[in-house]
Amino acid sequence: MSGYDVRLVEVGPRDGLQNEATAVPTAVKIELIQRLVAAGHRTVEATSFVSPKWVPQMADAAEVYRGLARQHGIAYPVLVPNLQGYERARAVGVTEIAMFAAASEAFSQRNINASIEESLQRFQPVLERARADGVRVRGYVSTVLGCPYQGEVPLADVVRVAQRLYELGCYEISLGDTIGVGTAGRARAMLRAVAAEIPMDALAVHFHDTYGQALANTLACVELGVRVVDASVAGLGGCPYAAGASGNVASEDVVYLLHGLGLRTGIDLAALVDTGRWISERLQRSNGSKVGRAFKGPA
Ligand code: HMG
Ligand code: MG
Repeated sequence: MSGYDVRLVEVGPRDGLQNEATAVPTAVKIELIQRLVAAGHRTVEATSFVSPKWVPQMADAAEVYRGLARQHGIAYPVLVPNLQGYERARAVGVTEIAMFAAASEAFSQRNINASIEESLQRFQPVLERARADGVRVRGYVSTVLGCPYQGEVPLADVVRVAQRLYELGCYEISLGDTIGVGTAGRARAMLRAVAAEIPMDALAVHFHDTYGQALANTLACVELGVRVVDASVAGLGGCPYAAGASGNVASEDVVYLLHGLGLRTGIDLAALVDTGRWISERLQRSNGSKVGRAFKGPA
């Protein structure tokens, strides 16, 4: 028995902190990750080995990763856009990476300065190296329910990019509503279309909450059978190349939802709420989790 029904992938330290306007000390990032693991998270996306010219918030990726205590059963995937990022990650002992492509051509250009096809070509040597090194690779497809530059994104494009990443060897594909414009009906249709080509147990959902739909979208997809949900403590986050995008669905809200459905997550909600309050205070931002604001502990 795994001890849980749904696995959360905590993306706050990466998707959240990549977007903070003021510099977050490396020690705070490390403490955040440690607290998330202590609360029961087993997968915490720790940081991002992208170009510091593009995302200065993640310039301390190596220091953050070096500061983490390796523990059996805990995965710390990191974002890697190219071979240079892979080399940097491997130099500090990374054993799991996440590569990211977009379903929208316009977003791909703005986010990684490459067309979708160029980005997939760029991933190939990284995936080959990863396979040889025994490094696990997660894949992201961004803009699955809309693009800030192109608007509508055809479902066929989402399916095609997800399939390519899966065929290239990603063990799991996370479907990202980067700008949080999706609704439950569209999220369901998107997941159904992708799941017709890729096994459901190799899929994850990644909702941002810009329009306040992220929790509803999560529920719709869990009802369809997805069992991996990306979320961010205190709803931290956004995307530096998607102006106006809010943070991810809050981890506390997802845990509260899932526990209410009788689905086990292995996460201690009280400890997670404490962590969300602590990081919100450290960053002097309001807590983006409704559960985090309201929670008074189990009766
Ligand atoms: P580029 O400018 O086309 O690349 O950027 P380049 O190869 O010409 O490199 C430019 C400079 O960056 C060079 O330095 C390189 O050495 C350096 P210079 O010669 O000028 O001194 N460089 C690097 N340095 C460190 N690590 C590296 C690296 N690569 C190049 N890995 C590139 C192309 C892909 C690098 C750039 O566009 C980039 O880093 N983009 C990342 C953008 C990003 O991080 N976006 C947010 C993450 S995606 C997201 O949030 C969505 C997600 O959450 C899912 C969802 O919500 O949908 C995942
Ligand atoms: Mg994201």
